[in-house]
Amino acid sequence: MAEYKVVLCLRSAILFLLASGALSATFTVTNSCGYTVWPGVLSSAGTAALGTTGFVLSPGESRNLDVPASWSGRLWGRTLCSTDPATGAFSCTTGDCGSAKTECSGGGAAPPATLAEFTLNGSGGMDFYDVSLVDGYNLPMLVVPHGGTGGNCTATGCLVDINSACPSDLKVVVAASVGGSGGVACKSACEAFGSPQYCCSGAYGNPNTCRPSTYSQFFKNSCPRAYSYAYDDATSTFTCASADYIITFCPGTASQKSSGKNPEAAGLPAAAGLPMVSSDGMVFLSGEQISKASPPVMLRISILPLALAVVLLVSLLQLLLLSF
Ligand SMILES: *[C@@H]1O[C@H](CO)[C@@H](O)[C@H](O)[C@H]1NC(C)=O
Ligand SMILES: *[C@@H]1O[C@H](CO)[C@@H](O)[C@H](O)[C@H]1NC(C)=O
Repeated sequence: MAEYKVVLCLRSAILFLLASGALSATFTVTNSCGYTVWPGVLSSAGTAALGTTGFVLSPGESRNLDVPASWSGRLWGRTLCSTDPATGAFSCTTGDCGSAKTECSGGGAAPPATLAEFTLNGSGGMDFYDVSLVDGYNLPMLVVPHGGTGGNCTATGCLVDINSACPSDLKVVVAASVGGSGGVACKSACEAFGSPQYCCSGAYGNPNTCRPSTYSQFFKNSCPRAYSYAYDDATSTFTCASADYIITFCPGTASQKSSGKNPEAAGLPAAAGLPMVSSDGMVFLSGEQISKASPPVMLRISILPLALAVVLLVSLLQLLLLSF
């Protein structure tokens, strides 16, 4: 009975897919900047790798990443990248990972770079996530959890472009020919001055002695939910259970473009650096962002019932076949 074997194989394959953690989190990475961004991904030691460690996103482009259960690591955006015509080596003006290729292959972001950090299914089964400016800043980034529950499961990130407002002793400027006018990144005080009180090292290696500085306060005022220095946990760490995450570069740019001249209309206070979040955790994104973000989320939500329906159907078929 060939049909019977096919049916059994199909059912085993579906059960295997369900059991093997194939239905873990999805990250939807979207580039809403007016320029190309090359996202980089670094998995923490001892965690399963993602399918990619670096790729390119044109303006307006999105990519879904399947993230293994209990993954931890970081994601950032590289800007102003190019391939050297003589050597073929790929490099980026900000966020470079030193691999000389689009894939980072275990390389981390050279500071300054805005980082999105994740520990999925950590303590108490919760996901921990944050956007960090501890290693400096290079572009606006927003992390929005979707379909998760519990904890303080809300949007975090840094909506504003602070490259031009960056204090002059932290500002990174490059030649206009490379694409920089008015700054391409903003260093942390630790990177700029290397002193223990800014780096929270040595005698300053604990939350009681390492306090916010005027430099870290510049980052905190611009981006209230992002980490501005190493011990900024209380206002910068967010938790959620079983969520998918939408990670957007330059979220404000697209929203303001699509909502005309009034950012408040789209729920995006121009100065606060974050979209408004209602009591039920809904984030008011622009129509453009929602239409980009929704399909993958809907897809993932619909996979489980669909797979279960297929298993049921296959079992029914099997019964039918057996009765002949
Ligand atoms: C989450 O972590 C716990 C304990 O570390 C583990 O037992 C469980 O299988 C994990 N859940 C998933 C979905 O990986
Ligand atoms: C979110 O919840 C975690 C865990 O309870 C807590 O440590 C953190 O301070 C909270 N974050 C914010 C921004 O309130």
